Amino acid sequence: MQQTVSPASAITGAISLPGDKSISHRCAMIAAIAEGDTHIRNYSTGADCHSTLGCLRTLGVELEGKGTELVIHGRGLDGLQAPSTDLDAGNSGSTIRMLSGILAGQPFTSRIFGDESLSRRPMQRIMTPLAQMGARIAAREGKFPPLEIRGGALRPIDYALPVPSAQVKTCVLFAGLFTDGQTSVTEPVRSRDHTEIALREFGADVKVERQRITVSGRPMLTARELVVPSDLSSAAFFIVAALLVPGSKLAIRGVGLNPTRAALLDFLVGMGARIQVLSLESHSGELVGDLVVEHSALRGGVIEGSLTAALIDEIPVLAVLGAATEEGLTVKDASELRIKETDRIRTVVDNLRRMGVAAEELPDGMVISGRQKFHAATLDSMGDHRIAMAFAVAALRGDGESVIQGAEAASVSFPEFWETLRQVA
Ligand code: S3P
Repeated sequence: MQQTVSPASAITGAISLPGDKSISHRCAMIAAIAEGDTHIRNYSTGADCHSTLGCLRTLGVELEGKGTELVIHGRGLDGLQAPSTDLDAGNSGSTIRMLSGILAGQPFTSRIFGDESLSRRPMQRIMTPLAQMGARIAAREGKFPPLEIRGGALRPIDYALPVPSAQVKTCVLFAGLFTDGQTSVTEPVRSRDHTEIALREFGADVKVERQRITVSGRPMLTARELVVPSDLSSAAFFIVAALLVPGSKLAIRGVGLNPTRAALLDFLVGMGARIQVLSLESHSGELVGDLVVEHSALRGGVIEGSLTAALIDEIPVLAVLGAATEEGLTVKDASELRIKETDRIRTVVDNLRRMGVAAEELPDGMVISGRQKFHAATLDSMGDHRIAMAFAVAALRGDGESVIQGAEAASVSFPEFWETLRQVA
């Protein structure tokens, strides 16, 4: 499917966005192994989070729901059933990596697979710690999905994460729930902490000392009523659209502003963005607020070190924004971008060049000089949701109609994206 995007005269109005993808995955997985019925409101509409629900159903978890409201009938820590078919993680790295932590603790064998893109993404990062805990995992060529996970009794470990990855941290902490001791993970830089927050909400004992997180095994997890905040990473496309297009003023309601995610706002405000945060509240341990974003002249900047990890999902759309800043944008320390749904350094640079925007590819990042014009072009998502949406935003500043090929990819995290874009542009 392709979408045509015309230049926008302004981005205006007030919008609500689907529930946070990261939080939705975690809430569903923990609810499945908790005791009782968890009610979730504003569950992500993205295909990825529905891949998680599909896997949970295959493991015998009963789910009821209409739209974004969901009831998950928890089966308790020992209640999952051996799957009669392979588990389908679709395009979702979060599903395969985080769920593997739970599968490793089960007294049965499961096989989990994904689509073509997921089948190329590295899994050693979870296989290594899970093997240390006692799980036996086989993978295609020793490192790619499908995974065959022979679960069983696990022992706790004290694990230093070699890569900054909230998915791997979560995998190990989830596996730690099935041990008889204390499992610790030390992160090289602090990553999103939705797992720590959600586990505590369900009653687990989680201690955090600087970058070391410890979970106690065999907790009593109790069902909860939860409201998922809107996804800041989805909001990022509309925040950047409003910043880019002169005359814009956009309100975005009920957005998740967890400090481990909200570095995005600090970075933008630091470059001169006019963003107001209204009505900050805490819901089930997660901060939520309303945003008002206005078109702004931006200086540009550098994303490196721990900031790269904190902005990892937003870099494609920030790269687009970078071309319209005064001094441009440099991204460093971002080799993780090469192993996302696509090689996002390559797919961002290629699409920028198609628009006539000069961009230099680095082994672990990119350099985009400022004050550039976007020319209308045919752009290609390469099947990556964040590339489809980032270049739809770039097209709003084009000098004519642009075409986004592979536009359906947006559904992976944000099926309402195109409709919302039409509403505000
Ligand atoms: C996620 C963590 C990040 C991010 C992904 C979601 C999560 O991946 O890119 O979209 O929910 O934990 P890594 O943990 O691989 O960095």
